[in-house]
Amino acid sequence: MIMAIESSCDDSSIAIIEISSNKILFHKKISQELDHATYGGVVPELAARLHTEALPKILEQCGEFLVSLKAVSVTTHPGLSVSLNEGVAMAKALSVTLNLPLVSVNHLKGHIYSLFIGLNEIFPITVLLVSGGHSLIVEALSHENMQIKLRSSDDSLGESFDKVAKMLGLGYPGGPIVEQYAKNGDPQRFAFPVPLKHSNRLEFSYSGLKNAVKLRIDELNELSHQDICDVCAGFQSVAIAHIIQKCKQYFKIAKPKNFAVVGGASANISLRKELENLANDFGYKLMVADLEYCSDNAAMIARCAVEDFKRNNFCELENLSIMTKSGDIL
Ligand code: KG4
Ligand code: ZN
Repeated sequence: MIMAIESSCDDSSIAIIEISSNKILFHKKISQELDHATYGGVVPELAARLHTEALPKILEQCGEFLVSLKAVSVTTHPGLSVSLNEGVAMAKALSVTLNLPLVSVNHLKGHIYSLFIGLNEIFPITVLLVSGGHSLIVEALSHENMQIKLRSSDDSLGESFDKVAKMLGLGYPGGPIVEQYAKNGDPQRFAFPVPLKHSNRLEFSYSGLKNAVKLRIDELNELSHQDICDVCAGFQSVAIAHIIQKCKQYFKIAKPKNFAVVGGASANISLRKELENLANDFGYKLMVADLEYCSDNAAMIARCAVEDFKRNNFCELENLSIMTKSGDIL
């Protein structure tokens, strides 16, 4: 078995995976969403302090598995440095105490492995990764070779949902809240512009849409419940239209063999439906992770670590540290 620790942002999570089956034997996550809600976003120092409380609480529940562990894995990048440090400190302490090798895991690679929990991996696969920190298209050719092909020039998809929710005073995280309001809204009432609609540039961008939403909210001044629903519906439909348009442009060039969507924002049902239709148009089936594993979790980190374990890809204790920059290769 391998233990995985995830603390890159505002979720404290520990998982135990069985190496032979890729099955998760233990998975617990303590989310800090409510603690950050009053600030409309994650406050790094608060997140770090809450990790120091939550991680040991979860670890206490893993006692029965400790004797069976073959390695300890931990997210080392990318993420909030003060948050990452908490998981890394715990992983180091466990490695010394239990005399276990350490595996360093890239959080984005972890999101991609959320597709393969309990399953064998499939490569090559083209992955749309939409989370609070990133909007990317990644060509995952193999475990060692995952290349970022398209990114956002400003905000990520999840971040834009969070910012719109904040403007409307709806709370944090914005994604699920905006999705709920959008269900009762008219997506046509406010004709927000689709970002980069007439451009061939292969990138995502959300700052223009976010500003257009802000202008509308300012114009409306006092918003009724229906106004809020209509703003959410208009924003969501355009945010998704942008993703679909850019994926389409990318598919025409790259012609993927397999296509998947992962990350916190991949829990959005309208996005999943639109991506499914797009995948059908191009003749393949959209792969998605279980809803439980879309947002940050240690299970996906554990699943990725299994592949490193099989390759003896360990990190010396003194070399295990957080990395603040990621390049184009995961
Ligand atoms: O993957 P994740 O848990 O954390 C990062 O790695 O960033 O993603 C969190 C993000 C947040 O921005 C949240 O608002 C967004 O995912 N999200 C959604 C939905 N559920 C979560 N965005 C749109 N629709 C959703 N249903
Ligand atoms: Zn994430």
